[in-house]
Amino acid sequence: MAKDSLTVVDNRTGRTYELPIEHGAIRARDLMQIRARPDGGGLLCYDPAFVNTASCKSRITYIDGDAGVLLYRGYPIEQLAEQSSFLEAAYLLIKGELPNATHLAQWTHNVTTHTIVHENIKNFMDGFRYDAHPMGMLVATVGALSTFYPDAKLIHDPESRRIQTHRLIAKMPTIAAFAYRHAIGMPYAYPDNDLSYTGNFLNMMFKVTELKFRPKPVFEHALDVLFILHADHEQNCSTNAMRSIGSSQVDPFSALAGACAALYGPLHGGANEAVLRMLQEIGSVRNIPAYLKRVKAGEVRLMGFGHRVYRNFDPRGTCIKRLAEEVFDETGRNPLTDIAMELERIALEDDYFRSRKLYPNVDFYSGVIYEAMGFPIDMFPVLFAIPRTVGWIAQWLEMVQDEEQKIARPRQIYLGSGRRDYVPIAARAADAA
Ligand code: CMC
Repeated sequence: MAKDSLTVVDNRTGRTYELPIEHGAIRARDLMQIRARPDGGGLLCYDPAFVNTASCKSRITYIDGDAGVLLYRGYPIEQLAEQSSFLEAAYLLIKGELPNATHLAQWTHNVTTHTIVHENIKNFMDGFRYDAHPMGMLVATVGALSTFYPDAKLIHDPESRRIQTHRLIAKMPTIAAFAYRHAIGMPYAYPDNDLSYTGNFLNMMFKVTELKFRPKPVFEHALDVLFILHADHEQNCSTNAMRSIGSSQVDPFSALAGACAALYGPLHGGANEAVLRMLQEIGSVRNIPAYLKRVKAGEVRLMGFGHRVYRNFDPRGTCIKRLAEEVFDETGRNPLTDIAMELERIALEDDYFRSRKLYPNVDFYSGVIYEAMGFPIDMFPVLFAIPRTVGWIAQWLEMVQDEEQKIARPRQIYLGSGRRDYVPIAARAADAA
């Protein structure tokens, strides 16, 4: 009998099975030996939404949801947010270790020298309607990049993977800013490689006629910290999409377009946009009790609250709250901030939220900060996608090199009709569905 194992007794047959436990998990494959289905197939695990299924072994990001811990390659998110920079954290996530000064300079150079996009990308983006959502533009344009870099399909070539990594991290801010400029009818602003990663992004977003755009240091720093906080979050919906699509061995641009699409939804990266719209709908502190009544009646969700894994507090939320104060010192306070703070205060005292362990998540304050910095609301999910690109790539690189991984292919429990014969349309009952 294995030292760490689970003994399963099948009461129908009296047979006993010994399932090894490794890393706190049994292998779902080991259940296949237990005959369980009328067709003779083995026992399946039924786990809608992967609530308790590990789909990979990973060495990138660790979360302890009960303790409110988030580590990138072992380093606490709070330390990285205070002491690191986004590009350094990106290096850490992708390569596994913090860089020395030479490696960081080389990495920064490699990313910085890939910020320009092919001119045809501009023409491609011009094809969108003036009111196209920038996240839709981002999804489509990053997918289109695969047609500009056909070498990206060489996913088993380390050199190809290296260059696509630089291209993706470098070009996401450019495409994101172009999407914004398209919507407001401003000429696209080209990258300025003298600036930092976030300084250049602010330049491409907000440059008007000045010869040299100088980003506000507070904004440049705030964005850098927000990007660190959003860079990875282990196996969430969009990362799972990246791995699942990438498991078909498609190029990383196509897989990343799918990950971006997953992020777009209001329950994931679209939540920061939804929080702002909710605060606008509430409109005033005195309307909060009525709004919370609707939340408790199940009519609406309190956006920016709750998380699948954090059941105590979201450590990113704590960092963000501090950052918000720094930004508001520069910009002044927005009335929506008062609504957000009062909403948080009342909700945290309320039994409905306490009993369900619902706390503010990363998106509750990020939107308020972005708004104060002058970003339009529909850019918020895009601002999530730029840094999360690093996490998606790190996870994709790990997956591509993991010999245990194959094409993702979940099972199902079929509850539909049994075999039946086709009925010609003329012979079907008039009231048939
Ligand atoms: N407002 C009101 N009730 C909620 C909320 C909320 N935001 N979130 C969960 N609940 C309730 C839910 O109704 C359920 O109650 P009951 O047991 O009475 O049916 C209970 O809490 C458990 O909810 P759940 O839907 O089973 O929890 P989940 O783990 O499936 O959902 C979530 C996690 C993040 C999708 C959800 O909390 C939510 O919809 N939050 C609002 C959207 C949001 O802020 N998303 C951003 C997540 S952080 C960024 C990211 O990582 O993408």
